[in-house]
Amino acid sequence: MVLGLGTGSTAKHAVDRIAELLHQGKLKNIIGVPTSKKTHEQAVSLGIPLSDLDTHPVLDLAIDGADEVDPFLNLVKGRGGSLLREKMVESVCKKFVVIVDESKLVSHLGGSGLAMPVEIVPFCWKFTAKRLQELFEDSGCVAKLRTCLEKNQPFVTDNGNYIVDLYFKKDIGDLKVASDAILRLAGVVEHGMFLDMATTVIVAGELGVAIKHK
Ligand code: A5P
Repeated sequence: MVLGLGTGSTAKHAVDRIAELLHQGKLKNIIGVPTSKKTHEQAVSLGIPLSDLDTHPVLDLAIDGADEVDPFLNLVKGRGGSLLREKMVESVCKKFVVIVDESKLVSHLGGSGLAMPVEIVPFCWKFTAKRLQELFEDSGCVAKLRTCLEKNQPFVTDNGNYIVDLYFKKDIGDLKVASDAILRLAGVVEHGMFLDMATTVIVAGELGVAIKHK
């Protein structure tokens, strides 16, 4: 099985567990495709055999966390900064399983007042950020460059790009329309809306675990 290995504090546990089961011989013939440099390092340190999309352009399964999950299993991802590789890997998986706790469940994406990440090229980033903000003027959008807390320098992704976080005061409307509009802007590389991609979401809550299927 070729397995997409997610990124973030939740996915880290899944990667640890996959390695444990491999070493116990309970899992066999697993090849991982990491979705970030950090997960790549973790998988190497745990001895998980790895590959990439060039060699394995179709994956059997990916397991990852998310920042927001709506009732239709659309997601916001990328608050940890790894959205581009995550989307490349998770868009070619036959099954995409998302693990979250119930704090990540929302009625509509972008409505929580938290960041909607967009990866952009560093060239004239202020121009691109302004255009993104203007795109969602009616939703009271504020676009902020993500910075590294300690140095107040731009946060640089695994791909050498910047991230602009969009904050909305009002609903952004049709998600597909919003997605297409963002992707049409020159300077944008990818955004953190993962629409119609998750096949299963596993939600941990105070009362136990709920499993939602597409
Ligand atoms: C990484 O950039 C993200 O897409 C993560 O998958 C997402 O932010 C969830 O992370 P946590 O599991 O740490 O909340």
